Amino acid sequence: MMFAPDLLKGRVALITGGAGGIGFEISKTYARLGAQVVLASRSQERLDGAVAEMAAEGLTAIAFKTDVRNYDEVEATIERTVEQLGSLDILVNNAAGNFSCPTAELSPNGWRTVVDIDLNGTFYGCRAGYKHLKNSAHGGCIISIVTMLGLSGWPAAAHAAAAKAGIISLSRTLAVEWGGDNIRVNTISPGPIADTLGVQRLYQETGREELERKKTALGRFGRKSEIANAAVYLASDLATYVTGENMVVDGGRWLKYVSA
Ligand code: HXC
Ligand code: NAP
Repeated sequence: MMFAPDLLKGRVALITGGAGGIGFEISKTYARLGAQVVLASRSQERLDGAVAEMAAEGLTAIAFKTDVRNYDEVEATIERTVEQLGSLDILVNNAAGNFSCPTAELSPNGWRTVVDIDLNGTFYGCRAGYKHLKNSAHGGCIISIVTMLGLSGWPAAAHAAAAKAGIISLSRTLAVEWGGDNIRVNTISPGPIADTLGVQRLYQETGREELERKKTALGRFGRKSEIANAAVYLASDLATYVTGENMVVDGGRWLKYVSA
């Protein structure tokens, strides 16, 4: 661990989708740095497994079963977090849904489902978290996980691209609206990250793995820890003047053109 071991001590962090993939890596990394961590997602089984895996490493976390598409559930999870742990200092909007589908074949419900999870779920977390984040002794911090494909457009994933672009816009708005409350609002745009459901669904199952690797300037997929490290930086006192930023952690992918 390259950060000071108590960097996030005294902070309470809620991570949606925190029991799997990139979210779980962020959860573990925050806990190693002293944060009290709350995991929120749909599968109780996955939540229990993640808490047990963390316990085996000597890390404590609590988990609340939550579907981020349901405002009441998100609000209840945030209220229980503050009741049990005393504050909400960091909110990581990481939960997402995605599948590859040409837009001409995408059903209205398929579109709505992804926009509901990604964009609406992020708004619900921000909205329900605001009154606690503004009371944070450290200054509140919101981090949402997006992708530069939201800005460039994303063939065969129009739903996710539009939702991620919406999250970037929402985050910039909130950075200004809530700056006076000392809440910082930032996004992280990962490139393709190895060993994740995202890469499996979007690139491995569609036969694009090699092409996608070539598209990065660094010539490789990222590691989950490389995203977690960015999420540590943004949540910590190292970044107290950083807000409204979209931190691109993508191995240089958005700058590189590769002909098919
Ligand atoms: C076309 C599909 C589809 C597919 C679902 N739908 N999968 N359409 N192709 N492969 C349609 C369904 O037919 C339905 O529309 C609608 O979407 C809702 O589907 P449900 O299965 O009822 O939804 P639900 O059970 O709520 O599941 C949500 C989900 C699911 C998003 C569809 O995949 C999920 O739970 N995903 C969570 C995990 C995930 O997606 N991880 C990847 C995140 S990675 P109709 O019209 O039939 O009712 C990421 C970025 C990756 O976001 C970055 C790049 C590497
Ligand atoms: P993942 O493993 O599929 O994780 C997504 C998490 O979201 C799961 O833990 C899932 O848990 C949870 N989730 C899904 N729907 C939910 C809902 N309705 N309510 C609550 N939780 C829900 O995905 P990942 O690949 O690690 O991606 C994590 C984030 O990084 C996402 O925002 C993704 O868009 C972004 N991203 C990923 C990559 C990549 O290469 N993987 C690249 C760019 C951006 P349950 O199923 O238990 O609910």
